[in-house]
Amino acid sequence: MATAEQIKSLLQSHYKNDDDRFTSIALQVAAHEARKGNMSIAQEIKSLVEKSKSGGFKIIKLNRDVSDLVLVFHPENRLNELILSEEVRSKLERIITEYKQRDKIQKFGLNNRRKILLSGIPGTGKTITASAIAGELKLPLYVIMMDKLMTKYMGETAAKLRDVFNMMQSNRGVYLFDEFDAIGAERARDNEVGEMRRVLNAFLQFIEQDTSDSIILGATNNIKILDSALFRRFDDIITYTIPNTQEIKELIGLKLSGFLGKYKLDKVIKESKGLSHAEITNACNDALKETILADKKTVSQVLLIRMIQDRKTNYL
Ligand SMILES: Nc1ncnc2c1ncn2[C@@H]1O[C@H](COP(=O)(O)OP(=O)(O)O)[C@@H](O)[C@H]1O
Ligand SMILES: [Mg+2]
Repeated sequence: MATAEQIKSLLQSHYKNDDDRFTSIALQVAAHEARKGNMSIAQEIKSLVEKSKSGGFKIIKLNRDVSDLVLVFHPENRLNELILSEEVRSKLERIITEYKQRDKIQKFGLNNRRKILLSGIPGTGKTITASAIAGELKLPLYVIMMDKLMTKYMGETAAKLRDVFNMMQSNRGVYLFDEFDAIGAERARDNEVGEMRRVLNAFLQFIEQDTSDSIILGATNNIKILDSALFRRFDDIITYTIPNTQEIKELIGLKLSGFLGKYKLDKVIKESKGLSHAEITNACNDALKETILADKKTVSQVLLIRMIQDRKTNYL
């Protein structure tokens, strides 16, 4: 058993968010157990520590100045987990290919495309695209919390933005400004126009001036309310739409894989028309849960259709 002293230190480092110290005490406990001959518990503690280091979707600590603004993830998502139109997929593949071979193109004075606007209706895969790009490039994903970024004081907001952009220089990664209309939209409104316009302009300038190796993604559900001045700052705009017949079929196949019954999907697809990827995914998960809880091996067509109809009534 760990000593009371060790437990106390563990608690202290936990509450102080001191991960390094927490890990080092955990390893001390493991060593302590090993010395006492408790090899298996020592090994278990060690592998828990190892696992947390290489964790799939783990939040780690950041520079103190932006840690309340930016969340860090280490996603393991891949592009092939996404059902996308040919156009969107090839644009994403191009970003990945250019990034991987950026040295090669930079020798000729060219830059890889890395400032990207993702636009489209909710639930069509914009946020998860950021995870997939980070996963494919084995880069950390930094998600900027837009609500925390915006303050009433222009000077403060711009300073916070500057901190985030400075971080891009020192911490290479994929930076996601999700639902980023929060900045852009304000420009069109009448109240506080002056302040918000200055914030937006600061943001545009930061994007334009940025020469880091990081990938910058802005995601928006509502491109129409964004000022066209925003678009010119991006290397590419990727538009997400609800899935077509073929994409619905692939999506259901992907989400239910081993659990799909041997029936034609035509009826299910017809019911799914007009729903987003996220809504269809949720319907599949609902059907899957009910199937598993009923100890059945496959999701029945009736159940799947019922779950999709449920989603539709929630929606409309
Ligand atoms: N194109 C897609 N392919 C596969 N799954 C998707 C897709 N779009 C959305 N999903 C599913 O729906 C969830 C929510 O999607 P999300 O990326 O948050 O949408 P958005 O950011 O466009 O609102 C995802 O985590 C994923 O499970
Ligand atoms: Mg999103």
